[in-house]
Amino acid sequence: MITLNYKNVDEKVIGKEHGLNIEKEFSTYKDIIEKIIKDLNQRKDKKGQWLQWMNLGYNEETVWYVKEFAAMVKGQFDNILVLGIGGSALGGIAVTEALLKPYWNLLTPEQRNGMPRIFFLDNIDPDQISGLLEVIDLKRTLVNVITKSGSTAETMSQYMIIKDLMEQQLGDSYRKNIVATTDQQTGILRQLANQEGYKTFVVPDDVGGRFSVFSAVGLLPFALVGIDIEDMMNGVKDMDLALKNTDIHNNIAAQNALIHYLMDTKKGKNLSVMMPYSSRLKYISDWYVQLWAESLGKEEDSNGNKVNCGPTPIKALGATDQHSQIQLYNEGPNDKVINFIRVAEFDKTVEIPHIFDYTGIGYLGGKTINQLINAEADSTRVALLDYKRPTVTITLPRVNAFSVAQLLYMLEVQTAIAGELYNINTFNQPGVEQAKNYTYALMGRAGYEESAKALTEKMTKQ
Ligand code: PA5
Repeated sequence: MITLNYKNVDEKVIGKEHGLNIEKEFSTYKDIIEKIIKDLNQRKDKKGQWLQWMNLGYNEETVWYVKEFAAMVKGQFDNILVLGIGGSALGGIAVTEALLKPYWNLLTPEQRNGMPRIFFLDNIDPDQISGLLEVIDLKRTLVNVITKSGSTAETMSQYMIIKDLMEQQLGDSYRKNIVATTDQQTGILRQLANQEGYKTFVVPDDVGGRFSVFSAVGLLPFALVGIDIEDMMNGVKDMDLALKNTDIHNNIAAQNALIHYLMDTKKGKNLSVMMPYSSRLKYISDWYVQLWAESLGKEEDSNGNKVNCGPTPIKALGATDQHSQIQLYNEGPNDKVINFIRVAEFDKTVEIPHIFDYTGIGYLGGKTINQLINAEADSTRVALLDYKRPTVTITLPRVNAFSVAQLLYMLEVQTAIAGELYNINTFNQPGVEQAKNYTYALMGRAGYEESAKALTEKMTKQ
């Protein structure tokens, strides 16, 4: 199991001004948390609650279909290219970076056990797209276009570019090189996939993009590059069972949600830093930033009051960002909760050879890089403690499919609980939709003429 250590947010450790009386707060919020957890678990099967992500760990059917497809296409492609943005890409990036061998795309096919390289195109930078097309042979590429709505401008424009090129290069058979993951019934991509005869997978109803990593959105790309998705599902189920515990003393998602909520509302610390001490976990922070920001950044609460709430998530990487952000975290405004992620045991041990006796570096010889990275995590935590900065530490026993899935699911539940504490709708994203609609208007989509006019007027005044 992954663990959470929150003693460095306690006022006994960092003082009354910046710390919380954890014992008292846990007992004050005991019933509220119990009610929230019961309520989430009761509502999760109801339509329209956007809580179907809580059932994804048990979706054996999807696992079966995904594995069957991955086995069928094994050996046929050199590259997997995922087209998607936001929740349709970030989970995929985070998990493949964490679980595939580092520098995967630079390894030989033998080193990759015959598995393909994987690329995510989650932006619409013309230079990047052109660059990627020079790197991959589309004839040997399986494209997985992922969009729940089926109409996101970024993803669908990428799809149109790639589809056109593939058709030119492969003729009619290009259809075998495209697999679509989208809504079961609605959306333009679903319509196109049916017309063109693509293989399809489903983004289930009531699962928002940022909560979709354990649906076919994530599972398909993972299985295509050989990640053990059953191990992942076991991690999710295991964590789900643990987080059904309604007692805050035994529920790490509830603990971290409450800590962040109270630090924001009582102590004015509305920045949440996610700082893994593991390069493989670097993109977990990007995924967390989206999850936390889109879910909790809301204008109105559930009663329609204007609240403009939401702690701002920040990504950092240990030890790298000790040499950039830590100065600010130690001595700048005391307005953050820092989440360290530690790895108890790395897959490899790298020794530092004892080749110099200079006082300044000689001490490193004979130690391991493993010791160094964890010593740096410890020293940064203690330095922050000296400055009375609140930190929590999440520890993963190892970076593997089981524990990474546990971590992601725990953070999803933590977000849902935090949303209930803020009394907001965790699962909508009106602010994102607003920008999407403006883009449609600017790019001349039919039906958006009035918005385009208003927008052009606003822009000329700027
Ligand atoms: O979390 C979300 O809902 C968003 O970030 C979406 O994933 C993102 O906007 C992409 O949407 P779609 O999957 O419809 O293309």
